[in-house]
Amino acid sequence: MYHKEILSIIKIIILFLFFMPSTSDLSANPQTVVDFEKSISPILQNRCFKCHSAPTIDVNGNVTKPKGSVQLDSVLGIRESLHGEVIVAGEPDNSLLYHRITLPEGETGIMPPTEDSTPLTKQETDLFEQWIKQGADFGEWKGNQSQRIQSKSKRHQPTVMSPITSLVFSPDGKSVIACSQAGLHIYDYPSLDQTKLIEVNAYNIHDVAFSPNGERLAVGGGNPATEGIIEIFSWIELKSLNIFKQHKDSVMAVSWRDENTLASASLDRSIILWDLSSGKPIQQFEGHSRGVSSLCFLNDNQLLVSTGIDQNIRVWDLTSGELLRSMNNHTLPVHDLALRPRESTLPMLVSVSDDKTVRFWQPTIGRMVKFARLKGTPLDVSWMHNGTQVIAACDDGIIRLVDPDSVEVTAEIQGISGWIYALAVHPTDGSIVIGGENGQVKRIIPK
Ligand code: HEC
Repeated sequence: MYHKEILSIIKIIILFLFFMPSTSDLSANPQTVVDFEKSISPILQNRCFKCHSAPTIDVNGNVTKPKGSVQLDSVLGIRESLHGEVIVAGEPDNSLLYHRITLPEGETGIMPPTEDSTPLTKQETDLFEQWIKQGADFGEWKGNQSQRIQSKSKRHQPTVMSPITSLVFSPDGKSVIACSQAGLHIYDYPSLDQTKLIEVNAYNIHDVAFSPNGERLAVGGGNPATEGIIEIFSWIELKSLNIFKQHKDSVMAVSWRDENTLASASLDRSIILWDLSSGKPIQQFEGHSRGVSSLCFLNDNQLLVSTGIDQNIRVWDLTSGELLRSMNNHTLPVHDLALRPRESTLPMLVSVSDDKTVRFWQPTIGRMVKFARLKGTPLDVSWMHNGTQVIAACDDGIIRLVDPDSVEVTAEIQGISGWIYALAVHPTDGSIVIGGENGQVKRIIPK
C-alpha cells in the first residue's frame, strides 16, 4: 500500500543514515579524540612545513629560517616559537595558529598565505579547534629534533630575568620597546623576538615614552634613594642624546608635553617640567606627601595630572604653577592613570590602585564619576583606541577589560604567570602586549 511504501522509504533513509560511509578520520566529531599523528600532522606537513620548519643551511652556507619565527615541525619548536603562543592547550581562540588558519579567505595574515595556496577547509580547521580544545596532545610525536631555533639572546639569558616595568609600541607598530633592569629591550612585532638590548645609564628603569613626533624616546629611572635619571634616545638609532638629573630618587614616570618639554615624576615626591633644549627645569611641583607614580597632560597641555603613593590624584595648572585640586577617593597607593582618547566633551581619566579599583574621573571639575572593583590588583591601565574599553593589567597575571559606561568587567584574559606590570595597545590592530615578571612579554588579541 501507499502507506507502507512511504514507511519503507523512511526505513531505507534511516538505514542509510546509520551506515553512511564513515568519514570520522576527517570530520571533527565532538565525541572522538583527535589523534595528532593521524589527523593534524599530515595537514601541518602538507600545508605548513614548507615555510615553518627548522632552519636549514645550504651548500653556500645560506641559512633558511622558519617564517615569522614560527617552527612547526617539532613539539619543542611549536612550544618555543612566539613564547608558546602558537598553540595554547585548551584555548583555540588564544592560539595564534588557530587564529591564522581561520582568518577570512583573502585576509592578510591568513595561513597558508593566499598567494601560496588555498585556505584549509572548514573540516581541517575544525580538527585543529577540537584537538587544541582537547589539550593539544602530541602523543608520541616529537618531530624534527635535529635543530631548533635558538636565538643568540636566548642562550645568554640568565634563568631569572628582571621584570618588564614598562612598554610601548613604536609609532609604526612594528616594534615593542620594553624596559627592565637590564636596559631597553627592542622586540620585533608581532613575533616578539628580541632584536636588541640597549644599556642605559639608570640602574632601574620604570618608564619609557615616545616624543609626540615619534623620533625620540624618554626613559625614566634611577638609583633608588640616590638620584633620578632621565635619558633621551633617538629612535630608531637608539643613540643616547641627553641625560637629565635633578631628582633625588628614582623617576617613576615620564610624559612629553611637546617636542621640547617633558614632565617627570619621582619617588622624591616632586614633579619636574623640563626644558629639553637647555636641560633646565622650568617648573617644579611639590604637594604629594609620598612618591609620585604617574603623569598625564590634559586640556591642550595646560593641565598636568599626577597620581601618588599617597593615594591622591592631583591636578596642576601649568600656567600658574598652582595645585588646582586634589582628588582622594582611592584608599591605597595609585599606580597609573590614562586619558580617554577621542573625548569630545569633558576629559575623562581612569586610574588604578592597590585598593583593587579602577576609577573614572572628570579631572577638570574634580569629580569621581564611577568605579569598578576587580578581583586582582591593577598595576597599569590603558584605553582601547576608540575609548570604549579600559584595559587593566593585574598582579594575578590577568588582563581585565572594563566597560567605562557600565563599569562592568567584560573580559578576563589569562596573560602571563605572575605580575603584569605593563601593557601597551597596538596603534592599529587592537592587540595588546603585556610585560611582567621574569622578563615575560606576550601578545594578547582581545575578541
Ligand atoms: C608560503 C609560506 C607559508 C606557508 C605555507 C605557511 N606560512 Fe605561516 N607564515 C608565513 C610568513 C611569511 C609568516 C610571517 C608573516 C606573518 O606573520 O604573516 C608566517 C607567520 C605565521 C604565524 C605567526 C603569526 C603571528 O601572529 O606572529 C603562524 C602562527 C603561522 N604562520 C602558521 C602557519 C600555519 C599553521 C600554516 C599551515 C596551515 C602556515 N603558517 C603556512 C609563511 C607561510
